[in-house]
This record gives sequence, structure tokens and C-alpha cells, in this order.
Amino acid sequence: EQQDLQDHFDAVVSRHERIEPRDWMPERYRATLVRQIAQHAHSEIIGMQPEGNWITRAPSLRRKAVLLAKVQDEAGHGLYLYSAAETLGVSRAELTEKLVSGQQKYSSIFNYPTLSYADVGTIGWLVDGAAICNQVPLCRTSYGPYGRAMIRVCKEESFHQRQGYELLMTMMSGTDEQRAMVQESVDRFWWPALMMFGPPDDDSPNTAQSMAWGIKRDTNDELRQKFVDMSVPQAERLGVTFPDPELRWNAERGHHDFGRPDWEEFAAVLRGEGPCNAQRLEHRRRAHDDGAWVREAALAYARRESDALEP
Ligand code: 3HC
Repeated sequence: EQQDLQDHFDAVVSRHERIEPRDWMPERYRATLVRQIAQHAHSEIIGMQPEGNWITRAPSLRRKAVLLAKVQDEAGHGLYLYSAAETLGVSRAELTEKLVSGQQKYSSIFNYPTLSYADVGTIGWLVDGAAICNQVPLCRTSYGPYGRAMIRVCKEESFHQRQGYELLMTMMSGTDEQRAMVQESVDRFWWPALMMFGPPDDDSPNTAQSMAWGIKRDTNDELRQKFVDMSVPQAERLGVTFPDPELRWNAERGHHDFGRPDWEEFAAVLRGEGPCNAQRLEHRRRAHDDGAWVREAALAYARRESDALEP
């Protein structure tokens, strides 16, 4: 009986078809999905903070409206992903508790500060660009609710990337100070953007199993390479450089060679020692506490409505 269930699961995964919430699945498959989807959802919500910092400081009404729309989108991405995680038997409240208590992580990239307005463009171009590289394959992930959430997320992500790139294009056709501000921003975000894809495959304890289960369709290094190859021509068109002296086209490989990210820095950020880790979690904790009355009121209203329906 158990073997039949395992065989059926393996057959569905090997055919690149979807595992759905009511299907039998190995406990470790479920646990890996809860871990990854929760972390992904947390990333979207925490990711609202760095850019949110510039909503009141945007230089024009148009820039403010575009940034507001993007930050609101990220909240929606978090909602889709928490909903996908809930199909695995965990509650959003439980996941939020694990985030604010530090038991679950969010993407390393959001532990870096947004020091200038150019960071709004750089985050759209590079951070959302990296997220697109990582999320497009996830549209084909073996777990149904996760893959379907990704399809909607990816459509919105491409708007995020374009608005960032267009913002930088505008600044690059401005003054020398604006051009210098863009280059300084790119210098700060390039390496942390490469780290978003996770540790090198040789140091990735989860990749092999996640590939075998069809949770991941590409490895961390494959997606990182794809992102570098995609970003170099975009940087050239923008007129900026990346802070990597080893970055160059390798005709034999058909890819760009690039330097080694600072994995010690990455490990430190994952340990909670990044520039903004404490601030991001404190902000999320406070927002959760400040929202308690809304949740209580909504629950009280729902109870009263359901009591009213009682025969
Ligand atoms: N930030 C924080 N933790 C990371 C990380 C990162 N960038 N990369 C890896 N890690 C952690 C992993 O969670 C794992 O720790 P754990 O086992 O305790 O959870 C450990 O480092 C080893 O890494 P692995 O490569 O073995 O782990 P995974 O197989 O989970 O791969 C991943 C890491 C590639 C990030 C994968 O989890 C993934 O694809 N997640 C979904 C995509 C995602 O989370 N994207 C966030 C981008 S931000 C975003 O989407 C917002 C955008 O709209 C701006």
C-alpha cells in the first residue's frame, strides 16, 4: 500500500506533472515545501521595507505611484505564497510567528539598506530581475499551488523589473551626480543579488533532493549564471559597470566568467548579522502587533455573522 503510494508519487514527479494538496506525498517533501514557500512568502513581505522607505521620498507623483503599486504587489505575492503554504497544513499565523521569532528566514537580499533613491531602480532591475530568474522555473515546480502562485507572481515581477530599469535609464540621461548615484547603487547591490540564488551547488544541502522532487528545475549555480549572462548586456546599455574585475565573456563556455561572491558575508547575513536584520525583524514584529486589533475585529465580526446564521 505504502509502496504503491510512493510509486504513484514518483511517477507523477518523473512525468513533470503536479502533486496536489490532497495527493499522498512523502513527509520530507511536504516539509521542504513548507520551508521554501514560507521563506519565499516571508521574503516578499520583508522585501516591502527597503523600498517602502522611499515611498514618501519619491521625487515625483509618478515615481511615488509606481513604487506604491510595486510595494503593494509584493504584499500580494506574500498572500499568494502564504495561501500556497496553507494547503500543506500550516497556518499563516504560525508562519508569521516563526518569522518574527527568527525560526524561519527570508531572502538575504533584504538585509541590505536602501541608502539612495537609485536603490529603488537597482532593486527593481537587479533584485526583481534575479527573482524572475529564480521564479520562472518555479512556475513548473512539482507542487501545484506553488507553481500556480508563481505564474501570477512572474507576470507582476516583469513590471517590477521594467519600472526599475526605466528609472535608472532616466537617471543615466540626467546629471553626472545622478549617474554617479546609479553606479554607486549598482556597486552595492550586485554581489548581494548574486547571493540571492543561494550557496554554490557544492554547498547546497537541499538542491539535489529538491531537483529530484521537481521542486527546483535548475540548480542555484545554473540560475546565477543565467542571471549574470542576462544582466551584462543590460548594464552595457544602461552605461554602468559591475564591481567584478573577473567578469568577462568566455566564448568557449558561451557564458560570462565571474568572480566568487563573498560566501562568508552570505553566511553572516544568514546568521542574522547583516546590516539590517534586526531592524527588518523589529519592524515586522511591530507591524504584526499593531495589526492585532484588526485581526481581532475581523474575527469578532466573522463570529457574529456566523452566529446570526445559526438556526
Ligand atoms: N537568503 C536566505 N537564506 C538562503 C538563501 C537566501 N538568498 N539562499 C539559501 N538560503 C538558505 C536555505 O534556506 C537553506 O537553509 P535552510 O535549509 O535552513 O532553509 C540554506 O541556505 C542552504 O541553501 P540551499 O540552496 O540548500 O536551500 P534551498 O534549496 O532552499 O535553495 C533558494 C535556496 C534558491 C533561495 C530556494 O529556497 C528558492 O528558490 N526559494 C524560492 C525563491 C525565493 O525565496 N526567492 C526570494 C527572492 S526575493 C523575492 O522573491 C521578492 C521579489 O519580489 C523582490
